[in-house]
Amino acid sequence: MKKNIAIIGGGDSQEYVISVKSAEQIMDIINKDRYNPYPVTLRGLEWKVKLTDGSTVPVDLRDFSIQDNKRKVKFDYAFIIIHGTPGEDGKLQAYLDIQKIPYNTCGVLSSAITFNKYTCKNYLKNFGILTAESIILRKKEDFSESLIKETVGLPCFIKPNNGGSSFGTSKVNKSEDLENAVKDAFRIDNEVVVESFVKGTELSCGLLKTRKEEFIFPITEIISGNEFFDYEAKYTKGKAEELTPATVPEEIHRKCKHIASEIYDHLNCRGIVRIDFILKGNQLYFLELNSVPGMTKESIIPCQIRAMGFSVGQIVEKVIEDNIY
Ligand SMILES: Nc1ncnc2c1ncn2[C@@H]1O[C@H](COP(=O)(O)OP(=O)(O)O)[C@@H](O)[C@H]1O
Ligand SMILES: [Mg+2]
Repeated sequence: MKKNIAIIGGGDSQEYVISVKSAEQIMDIINKDRYNPYPVTLRGLEWKVKLTDGSTVPVDLRDFSIQDNKRKVKFDYAFIIIHGTPGEDGKLQAYLDIQKIPYNTCGVLSSAITFNKYTCKNYLKNFGILTAESIILRKKEDFSESLIKETVGLPCFIKPNNGGSSFGTSKVNKSEDLENAVKDAFRIDNEVVVESFVKGTELSCGLLKTRKEEFIFPITEIISGNEFFDYEAKYTKGKAEELTPATVPEEIHRKCKHIASEIYDHLNCRGIVRIDFILKGNQLYFLELNSVPGMTKESIIPCQIRAMGFSVGQIVEKVIEDNIY
């Protein structure tokens, strides 16, 4: 019997639209001879599925099912493709654990840690992973400009601690711009990370480990046309160059893949993740880990998968087969 798979997109962050695009792409490429995929779009407590006849039905959250033409369909597996909350921070994973539904991403704790940039960086520091100096600001507390300048210095990066797609992120070069940058980031999140600027080459490494196999994808080098890889550079055609494989020496490819693989294990990851680094000299600074990376046609992970000689559908199938029973 074909298994029913809920492909869950949308979510409650600014990345809603990108997630819906990623989800459409997964719907397109998933092997329909093997699975019955259903597109689930989620916003708050409104979870709905568009059926093939064009009608929309709600998901019954009590048992994670829908009514498809008067027939009850219970989902056997969830393919989460929500960037940001609640798909990348462990909340959806917790719901699915309670329902005993297997899914494609990291578990609750790994998702929660990796989504919290500051916590993730500090956790990885214990294992000797290099990462930029940083401090955390909390909305209710006053922040000290002099502490920022003494601890992380200028230029620095200011970003929402729980965010993505560079929303609310700024590079600050002068003290007088600090306050506005902090305000911008607080619009997105109650916690803000202030991080030393690491000048170097931006690299991104995707990977997947299943019970049987291990895939460390070719590394992508990001050359932004803007001052950094901001929202515009990420999503406007021609605003950034993404080179796969990266044009760095062979030794750096090896080192980056090795560190990415270690990070995956330290964090007990599952499914496809993408890890962002800055290469300065021959040192790799960990920036962040994306546990639900973009999967649109143009996204970095699909490019890496194709560069490795696989189709995205083949890799997605390996993810699903790893824990669907
Ligand atoms: N400490 C830093 N030094 C240099 N560039 C940075 C730093 N932090 C962030 N950036 C730039 O900002 C972009 C977004 O930051 P990142 O931590 O990856 O968050 P997001 O989740 O928004 O992608 C990065 O791709 C990089 O271009
Ligand atoms: Mg990033």
